[in-house]
Amino acid sequence: MKLGRLNHIGVATPSIADSVAFYRDVMGATRIHEPFDLPSQGVKVCFVDTPTDSGMNGTQVELIEPLPGNTSIAGFLEKNPQGGQHHMCFEVPDIHDAKAWFESQGKRVLGEPRIGAHGTPIFFVHPRDMGGILTEIMETPKENAHWSN
Ligand code: CO
Repeated sequence: MKLGRLNHIGVATPSIADSVAFYRDVMGATRIHEPFDLPSQGVKVCFVDTPTDSGMNGTQVELIEPLPGNTSIAGFLEKNPQGGQHHMCFEVPDIHDAKAWFESQGKRVLGEPRIGAHGTPIFFVHPRDMGGILTEIMETPKENAHWSN
């Protein structure tokens, strides 16, 4: 296992529009991407960039709003009506190596690797096996297409 960059923090919200206004007006975010639907996961997502001194891509905040019919994020919002931190996402060089590693450590990988919001394969690891944090593992994007606008 080779721990990579902290790619993003996932934040569930009942309203991406309200959260975007918060990050822009209160937190001073200047790079906020267009929200888009991710029907395979039943969510709408929107990435907010944090800057870095080096000009490299900073860690992002991933705002997540449930689409109709979604149960997991909707359930989270039932318990946390104003939203809140939902998961952390770390990059790895190879998604299949990482999955085999976590399984060899007895960690519960939730489903097969699938294409996530950055267009590269991801999987989640059960929070009870990860110190209480739902953990997303994501293969490092080969081209930073998602960030280049
Ligand atoms: Co995520």
